[in-house]
Amino acid sequence: MITYIESARQFHLNTAHTSYVLAVADEGYLAHVYWGPKLEPQDLTDLLRLDEPPFVPSANNRERASFLDTTPFEYPCGFTGDYREHAFGIETTGGFRACDLRYVRFRIFSGKQDPEGLPHTVGEGAETLMITMTDAPTGITVLLYYTIYRDSDAVIRRVAVRNDGEKPVLLNRVLSASVDLDDDRFEMISLYGSWARERQLDRQPLRHGKQRIDSLRGESSHQYSPFFALVNPQTTEESGNAYGFTLIYSGNFMLQAELTQHCQTRAQIGIQPEDFVWELRPGAYFDSPEAVMVYSAEGLGGMSRTFHKLFYNHLIRSKWRDQERPVLINNWEATYFNFDLAKLQGIAQEAARLGIELFVLDDGWFGRRDSDNCSLGDWIPDQRKLPGGLKPLTDTVTGLGMKFGLWFEPEMISPDSDLFRAHPDYAIQIPGRPLTQSRAQYVLDYSREEVREAVWAQMQAVLDSVPVSYIKWDMNRQITEPGSAMLPPHRQKELWHRYVLGVYALMERLVTEYPDILLETCSGGGARFDAGMLYYSPQIWSSDNTDARERLRIQYGASMFMPPSAMGAHVSVCPNHATGRDTPFETRAHVAMNGTFGYELDVTQLTDEEKAQIPEQIRRYHSISGLVREGALYRLGDPYRLSACAAQTHSGWDAWMYVSEQKDRALLTYVQITAEANMRSRRVVLSGLDENAVYHYNIDGTDYQKTGAYLMHCGVLFRNLWGDMQSEQVLFTAVTE
Ligand code: GLA
Repeated sequence: MITYIESARQFHLNTAHTSYVLAVADEGYLAHVYWGPKLEPQDLTDLLRLDEPPFVPSANNRERASFLDTTPFEYPCGFTGDYREHAFGIETTGGFRACDLRYVRFRIFSGKQDPEGLPHTVGEGAETLMITMTDAPTGITVLLYYTIYRDSDAVIRRVAVRNDGEKPVLLNRVLSASVDLDDDRFEMISLYGSWARERQLDRQPLRHGKQRIDSLRGESSHQYSPFFALVNPQTTEESGNAYGFTLIYSGNFMLQAELTQHCQTRAQIGIQPEDFVWELRPGAYFDSPEAVMVYSAEGLGGMSRTFHKLFYNHLIRSKWRDQERPVLINNWEATYFNFDLAKLQGIAQEAARLGIELFVLDDGWFGRRDSDNCSLGDWIPDQRKLPGGLKPLTDTVTGLGMKFGLWFEPEMISPDSDLFRAHPDYAIQIPGRPLTQSRAQYVLDYSREEVREAVWAQMQAVLDSVPVSYIKWDMNRQITEPGSAMLPPHRQKELWHRYVLGVYALMERLVTEYPDILLETCSGGGARFDAGMLYYSPQIWSSDNTDARERLRIQYGASMFMPPSAMGAHVSVCPNHATGRDTPFETRAHVAMNGTFGYELDVTQLTDEEKAQIPEQIRRYHSISGLVREGALYRLGDPYRLSACAAQTHSGWDAWMYVSEQKDRALLTYVQITAEANMRSRRVVLSGLDENAVYHYNIDGTDYQKTGAYLMHCGVLFRNLWGDMQSEQVLFTAVTE
């Protein structure tokens, strides 16, 4: 519910458990007042300390700069007195950069207005506050949007910029949100990583100055996720303040926390301002991506559950969102580029026999792609490997009662490709400068419509020739030498954002023209594991690392802000291709069931004992996947804590559970990461259950019936298991009398 208190000129955005408050302060400056636990709408002007030195400009104009440098603002701009990091920056035709946005009017309405060409939240129960601000000398108008949903504690912010002046203006910074928190005891939790080691958790105290995570790679990246949380030192998984931020965007981003001279924290999120420009002609608009901001008093767990639910209810649009996803088998780790029709048919036959439902043909089926050296851009089946094209294979697969899926990397071009030979200018490049190769490939200039069309025509031909039920859309390198043949010199920096808009345009076309296709996005594993992608693909390949032990950390980190049902997770062979580690087949499945389940191996090479487990794993996955999709996640363990006893350093365990909305079903997965001799059983205390309900469950063949209160205070005991990476899954069902 959004309320305007006229006497205080304050806007109160109240969700079920939180309040976010802003105010029109002196002379139309827009101040941030409060964000935290819910308060009934009331005058909170005191929090702004406007009656303390330096006072407001109308009372003390000679110290206006001091007022500007210390007041908490909603959308700060640069070079007029606020020396903290600004959220909005311009450059006029005269080359001047100062800006001073002041309040003009507001509007509160039900529903929302969406940014054009960008992924955004959707659905019922939205209410929006729109505030109009203007910079009088240039005629630049900024619309600040704040949306809340009836069923969420999140605040969704974005801005739209309109040029109401007479001259073009260059926008050089348009962050989506900035918030000045009146607290300096924060720690920043962020997710760093690398290829095959994505989303590792980092928790560090803020220091005075600016701490930033960002991407200037053209995608959200393996290296930092577009997410951070600001928490107090005492914040834990289940208690304490957690302020979480993410961006519904898949390109260059920045998230920054600045601890200021007066011990306040300015948190900001938006498109990376470095190397960004957008020319705004008179009358034109620019839309920022949406930022999602979550406050939870229930620690990191509460914050994550709010993100998950919002994204499930209001971001994932695919018809697959709440449908049972087919268990897939992907041939990448089974064959890499080395396959022919007979080999694939053999895998498909054995997979079908074991109950696998979708066969996915990964890289290597097109052009002359015997390695990653060539052929990106030539989406024509390789007749050497697949005589007669894809049809004989899809006939086999569908004849076996399975669905068929196919890999594409639509944004890329190999120097050794017919497309590049015909259109070398299609690659992003700078004239006269050598182009840096990465995985022997270049990036297509998706800011250009004709480039997208050239790829789309080929994809469409494939999709119309054989029954494709699933697509894996990959993106395997980052952008270098950012230059577009179509942009004039002063607009070259528009390329980064225009590229992302081009990717979204083609994805939109794919999901609109082929709405039944299940789309899984991917970027060298998890380099584009972001909320922007969720708008198009309900599942995202989360890492090329399928080692169950490493996946515990990767999936734990990812679950900070992304719903587990979005994480592509597969069982692969051991020794694992990324780490060389051996883990039990069953544990690999238990860990992969924490996401969108599948296999990525040559099923014909498995032992009979392993094969025998597959039908049961598939049955189990389908019986619990609804819980993983729609249930609330409680992280009970911590894959980062190496020790079973806090005082030791050589053991560890992890556990997590999903609880249904009615709290009548729950799934607990427990992994003993490292075995220790002579350890007693481990007590794992549960969360999220109904205290008064009685639950039935079975551990090691013994049936139990206990109340939710018992399970949440006393917990369950897992005996010391023999060997590393042993796991158990326990289903809890409320007993009806
Ligand atoms: C990326 C993906 C893998 C696989 C390969 C194919 O690395 O993450 O899953 O599709 O590309 O080249």
